[in-house]
Amino acid sequence: MNQRVIEQSASKAYGVGDASYRAAGELAGITRLVDDFYELMDRLPAAKAIRAMHPADLTESRKKLVCFLSGWLGGPKLYAQEYGPISIPGAHRQFPIGEAESEAWLLCMREAAARQPYEPAFRDYLLTQLRVPAERIRAACGR
Ligand code: HEM
Repeated sequence: MNQRVIEQSASKAYGVGDASYRAAGELAGITRLVDDFYELMDRLPAAKAIRAMHPADLTESRKKLVCFLSGWLGGPKLYAQEYGPISIPGAHRQFPIGEAESEAWLLCMREAAARQPYEPAFRDYLLTQLRVPAERIRAACGR
């Protein structure tokens, strides 16, 4: 099998069932990713504007993102259980999110993912997939 075929079959496999949830290290792994994500958002100069959109105390933001990513990655649907239904573009419509803000959010995720002991193919898959809701948010916010 050549490299391209291996990459394609790996990324297909991550979308099946709870494969992504397991590749992310289940709830403990997702919690570490989100903790690193918000720690980076707190101190990366490029993230200053998006950090300012969040509350000073990020406890609830962390919890919500962990719960959401659990279900989004094919694991337990914790966000729905804890908070009810969510529309990701709808939840962000009130914020001024354009290209720069979307890229800053993805930068924090990319740096946070780089700190995790993930398989390189999963890291790439995760970042590619996160672009989809990030782009929908940017479109919904219309900036
Ligand atoms: C595109 C760049 C993005 C920016 C600037 C952004 C910013 C924000 C802000 C300011 C909040 C409100 C504070 C909070 O409740 O923590 C929030 C909430 C949230 N964000 Fe994002 N976000 C972005 C992308 C994403 C993406 C791609 C996802 C999912 C993969 C996501 C998931 C969430 C969730 C689950 C909440 C909690 C919503 C609620 O319960 O009201 N965000 N985001």
